[in-house]
Amino acid sequence: MTEESVTSLLPHNYSNQDIPFYILRDNTTNNIITDAGATLGRVLFYDKRLSKDNTVSCASCHQQELAFSDSAVVSTGVNGPTARHSMRLVNGRFSEEVRFFWDKRADSLEEQTTQPIRDHAEMGFSGSNGDPEFTALLEKLSTTPYYDSLFVDAFANNVITEERMQSALAQFIRSIQSFDSRYDQGRANTNNDQAAFANFTSEENEGKRLFLARPDFNNESQRIAGTGLGCQACHRAPEFDIDPNTRNNGVISVAENPVATDTTNTRSPTLRDLFSSTGQSNGPFMHDGSLATFSDVLDHYNNITADNNNRGLDNRLRGSMRQGNIQGTGQNLLLTQSERSALTAFIKTLSGTTVYTDEKWSNPFDENGSLVLRR
Ligand code: HEC
Ligand code: HEC
Repeated sequence: MTEESVTSLLPHNYSNQDIPFYILRDNTTNNIITDAGATLGRVLFYDKRLSKDNTVSCASCHQQELAFSDSAVVSTGVNGPTARHSMRLVNGRFSEEVRFFWDKRADSLEEQTTQPIRDHAEMGFSGSNGDPEFTALLEKLSTTPYYDSLFVDAFANNVITEERMQSALAQFIRSIQSFDSRYDQGRANTNNDQAAFANFTSEENEGKRLFLARPDFNNESQRIAGTGLGCQACHRAPEFDIDPNTRNNGVISVAENPVATDTTNTRSPTLRDLFSSTGQSNGPFMHDGSLATFSDVLDHYNNITADNNNRGLDNRLRGSMRQGNIQGTGQNLLLTQSERSALTAFIKTLSGTTVYTDEKWSNPFDENGSLVLRR
């Protein structure tokens, strides 16, 4: 065997990736990433056998080239559409908020990972509405030949349980990290978000200032020119994770339903990788997929409606309420064209490159459905 083929047989590195020194948040508890555990998680993530009719995998709705989201407003599962827009899965490990889903209904990432499988619409092992029970999936996987050695490698024996599936899937998702952005270069060199980054254009540095600084408002909730835009209060650099105490941001529609409202969505994925490395947006934004572009996102924050239908609107978006006016009407940022361009330019510096292409997070099945795996 040549040196080269020995190297190509080494397992992918999931367990010992470089994490920048300034990244301090980590929601891992006792489920530490191992190479064998994340490898099993990768296979489960891409395996259509996890759906009742072998047509849908996790990756059907979480696509690597879109930062593990979906370009559709809502995704399609085995029994129809999802209720909300798919979420990007990049840097899911690095958030202070430990609860997952837009409305935080899963208490941990581990708990989240088998809910799509148990969901009637998504993967269909719900045990109701004519769906098979989850135990039928455990039996199906135990008669799928490659899982035998994958479970042995990860857990020392081949017993397949829901808890082990959760551990492996969560390890794989926590391994998906993106820290090779231009923001990271600047942050590493400067070690201070407030200082100008030498590798940024002046427009990008102005966008960074606008993102980080807080706004001030007059009594009509109109922003005073030159003050910041306050994004940092909820989407906090350098992780750009969501503040766990955030209430809703005024996006209260339900996907593809013109009349219903939903004020429960208070989690956001990291604001890193909203755009791909080539500058395309990674799908529409928000829980209802209602904002097709980042420009639409700016329109939303520019002019927020606060009314009695949405008592859950976060106070930080109520403009003059911050000046002691409890009638707070919803902020009006009075964004100028150059401020919009600057903030957009800054947001684009938050995108990495390798997360979109690295083989270790890619589909391990070939076009014939055979598993092709290094381990
Ligand atoms: C049919 C489409 C679909 C499939 C299949 C699917 N997901 Fe999702 N995923 C979604 C949608 C939609 C959401 C947001 C749902 C919500 O918040 O109510 C989501 C949310 C998530 C989140 C939460 C992310 C966060 O930051 O809170 C994780 C993690 C996740 N999915 C992992 C998985 C895993 C693991 C699988 C496979 C076992 C899977 N998904 C299968 C559509 C899908
Ligand atoms: C008060 C807290 C708060 C502030 C301030 C805030 N956001 Fe958000 N943001 C949220 C919440 C909560 C969500 C999830 C909303 C949903 O989908 O229902 C969100 C979602 C988003 C999303 C969609 C993410 C995705 O994956 O679809 C973008 C983009 C975004 N915010 C950008 C910004 C920008 C830019 C600013 C500053 C102008 C900002 N936000 C200010 C709380 C906030």
